[in-house]
Amino acid sequence: MPGPSSPETWDAFFSDFYLRAYADDERREEAEAQALAAVRLTGVDETGDLLDVPCGFGRHCVPLAKAGYRVTGVDRSGVLLDEARRRAGAGRWPKFTKADYRELPFRDESFDGAVNLFTSLGYLGDEQDTRVLAEIRRVLRPGGRLVIETHHRDLLVLRFSDSDWRLMGEGRLLLEQRTFDAAAGVSQTTQTLIDGAGRRESRTWSVRVYSATELLAMLERAGFAEAKAYGGFDARPFEPTSRLVIAARR
Ligand SMILES: C[S@@+](CC[C@H](N)C(=O)[O-])C[C@H]1O[C@@H](n2cnc3c(N)ncnc32)[C@H](O)[C@@H]1O
Repeated sequence: MPGPSSPETWDAFFSDFYLRAYADDERREEAEAQALAAVRLTGVDETGDLLDVPCGFGRHCVPLAKAGYRVTGVDRSGVLLDEARRRAGAGRWPKFTKADYRELPFRDESFDGAVNLFTSLGYLGDEQDTRVLAEIRRVLRPGGRLVIETHHRDLLVLRFSDSDWRLMGEGRLLLEQRTFDAAAGVSQTTQTLIDGAGRRESRTWSVRVYSATELLAMLERAGFAEAKAYGGFDARPFEPTSRLVIAARR
């Protein structure tokens, strides 16, 4: 059965390539609104300690820190963290830590809430992704909430398109070609970035795309309680065609 790509493939993807593809198309205001809405769902206020895991190039934790939150961003990619630090500037928050989210370098019960946004699971497969969830639970204080926002299997299947392209910043084109192995629940994507001068660069990767049912079961296995699926950060009902937002309590 095919599984997700290796950590080395992810490291090669979440690199300068990812920054070139996404950094100018981050829709800052949308990311800021999503970050604030996600944190509202965790129930954490400005006095609490928040974890943004993984934080990528800081789309969420930088505006959260500017809004007064005590937020720590963790990511495995040094390149993305450097960009996040550059965007954050000199303030006390956010704090950044480079780590694999299977082994978070924090003591038990260090945070009041955590967010995992923009499809940040599925890179490791069922067992290891469950380990990530258990690790996030370990660093949450009792009663602390994790909020996940992700693509999911129902939406992938209903809207499946084997190829499409998007116009990104500075006239760049991002072409995506996809296949989906329905038995394995693994989607394979080849992204080709074509810049204004016509230069092409491609990366291929495979990701496990979970259904809401699978993710809720994984959260339970990881020890979370009261995991609930929503169709958005405003806690609207989950539907097959909505994004998937899950809030779960330690
Ligand atoms: C789709 S990006 C989303 C990042 C961020 N949440 C955002 O919205 O921009 C997924 C992130 O997961 C990180 N990542 C992948 N595997 C990881 C691992 N094993 N440990 C920690 N971070 C990882 C990547 O470096 C990347 O920044």
